Amino acid sequence: MSETQELPAHVAGNREAWDQFAADYVANGEQAWSEDEVTWGIYSVPESEWHLLPDDLAGKDAIELGCGTAYVSAWLAKRGAKPVGIDNSPKQLETARRLQKEHGIDFPLLLGNAETVPYPDESFDYAISEYGAAIWCDPYKWIPEAARLLRPGGELMFLQNSTISMLCTPDQEEEAPLENRLERPQFGLFSMSWEDHSTEFHLSHGEQLRLLRDSGFEVLDLIEIRPPADATTTYRWASLDWALQWPIEEAWKARKR
Ligand SMILES: C[S@@+](CC[C@H](N)C(=O)[O-])C[C@H]1O[C@@H](n2cnc3c(N)ncnc32)[C@H](O)[C@@H]1O
Repeated sequence: MSETQELPAHVAGNREAWDQFAADYVANGEQAWSEDEVTWGIYSVPESEWHLLPDDLAGKDAIELGCGTAYVSAWLAKRGAKPVGIDNSPKQLETARRLQKEHGIDFPLLLGNAETVPYPDESFDYAISEYGAAIWCDPYKWIPEAARLLRPGGELMFLQNSTISMLCTPDQEEEAPLENRLERPQFGLFSMSWEDHSTEFHLSHGEQLRLLRDSGFEVLDLIEIRPPADATTTYRWASLDWALQWPIEEAWKARKR
């Protein structure tokens, strides 16, 4: 049996999908690696305003779960952390490795599933995911796994589509713009599979909160992002008019007890 056949079905499907999407993420990765200023998510909101990272990362062992082209890990390294990136897509990691060489910033990059990371318990002080494990891994697997990987007092931050944006996402087509009405029930919200065989995961706030607590985290913050009125994005589905009325993305911060 090949390695891909041994992966859970959603992980194998997401590997195939992300190997295809990877070419579309090269330019964004190149741009983000060359920026010293950290910006986040769909509307590139600035870290200086939203404070998603801890103030002091110097010397911290950090892991990025679903690192893609690994620009977040590069930002952590520039702030003195010792990052490790894990990603499920060989093609995304190909870009990450090239950019590491071009920028002379080296850290371990692993091909693997962020639901089962090959590191011992309590190896890290900080775990982060910007639209990586946060939406592409089964939350009931990756959040307990993040808790296992963190030392007591270690922090987790993840940025993802907001729950309300997923409730307003039409069924028909992945790139269809968000609607100004609810398109699906919240009860039962969990996995969403698309025509390209990719599968995303989203939870209600109540379930997310309970899962974090049950996994050994205390929740520090839930930050609902509102872009500035002149913000721009390359994502066709994310209209600014919508994002100015409802939170289009959300960041969770939690600390391992
Ligand atoms: C949107 S990218 C996130 C990286 C980057 N922050 C960005 O926004 O471009 C999503 C990444 O999650 C990765 N991914 C999907 N499923 C994964 C899994 N089970 N384990 C690790 N990475 C996974 C994909 O391969 C992809 O590189």
